[in-house]
Amino acid sequence: MSESRNTIPDALRPPIIRDRSEPRFPGGPAADPAGSHHERRIRSFQPRRSRVTTGQEDALQRLWPVWGLDIDGRRVLDLDEMFGGLPVVLEIGFGMGEATARMAADDPGTGILAVDVHTPGQGNLLGLAERGGLENVRVANGDAIILLREMLAPGALHGMRVYFPDPWPKKRHHKRRLIQPEFLTLAAGRLAPGAVLHCATDWEPYAEQMLDVLGAHPGFENTVDGGGYAPRPAFRPLTRFEGQGLDKGHTVHDLLFRRVPAES
Ligand SMILES: C[S@@+](CC[C@H](N)C(=O)[O-])C[C@H]1O[C@@H](n2cnc3c(N)ncnc32)[C@H](O)[C@@H]1O
Repeated sequence: MSESRNTIPDALRPPIIRDRSEPRFPGGPAADPAGSHHERRIRSFQPRRSRVTTGQEDALQRLWPVWGLDIDGRRVLDLDEMFGGLPVVLEIGFGMGEATARMAADDPGTGILAVDVHTPGQGNLLGLAERGGLENVRVANGDAIILLREMLAPGALHGMRVYFPDPWPKKRHHKRRLIQPEFLTLAAGRLAPGAVLHCATDWEPYAEQMLDVLGAHPGFENTVDGGGYAPRPAFRPLTRFEGQGLDKGHTVHDLLFRRVPAES
């Protein structure tokens, strides 16, 4: 048989099926850290195919083994050990991480556990943390819901930040929005009494939904006397998505709700 008859044209080759937990970069974040058994729930994010720059890839390769964490849902984290005893705030959906790095630099006495699924952003934040000498940031890769549900102990968090979560504007996608009663119950269980959940959005209907569900949830109380939106706190820097929203003429709302102590 001649060699040419053995050669399969590229178009007919079966696709290479990668192990979905395999990292895209040696030693870097896993492509799908929690694996298939957590997969069926409705996700608040959409996988994005975006290019990782050389600098981000370099940061992922060098720094992921030190400051990175794959959300595999397999163990409960020891936050004291991870952050040397600092109080820890969880930031869900840090995007490219510029605001996260600023807040970490401004407040070195607080640990920030920053979670996103977005690989370029993970590399970007690791690079910013290294350049800024920030020792209080850890970068988690995967679904924040699995992190909260499977990997954090009750009352482990001293705060939670959800800045400009995906607005999912179409009605049929509203079920994908993160801030819903079920999420708040999970979040309340992981927040210490008195800890603050801080949300911000530039999407008016989502802001209204946040105010409604937070206002109605028994685990939270508004930090604003008389209720309503909070003034933007000085510690929250302008985020990348916020800038894009402001350019479109959107109004930004901050919501700060405190975890109420469970009744004894
Ligand atoms: C609209 S962006 C906002 C990013 C950033 N906070 C900002 O304001 O520039 C929302 C981010 O949340 C992330 N995200 C959404 N749902 C998530 C989830 N369940 N777990 C982890 N990250 C999530 C998305 O990947 C995306 O990067």
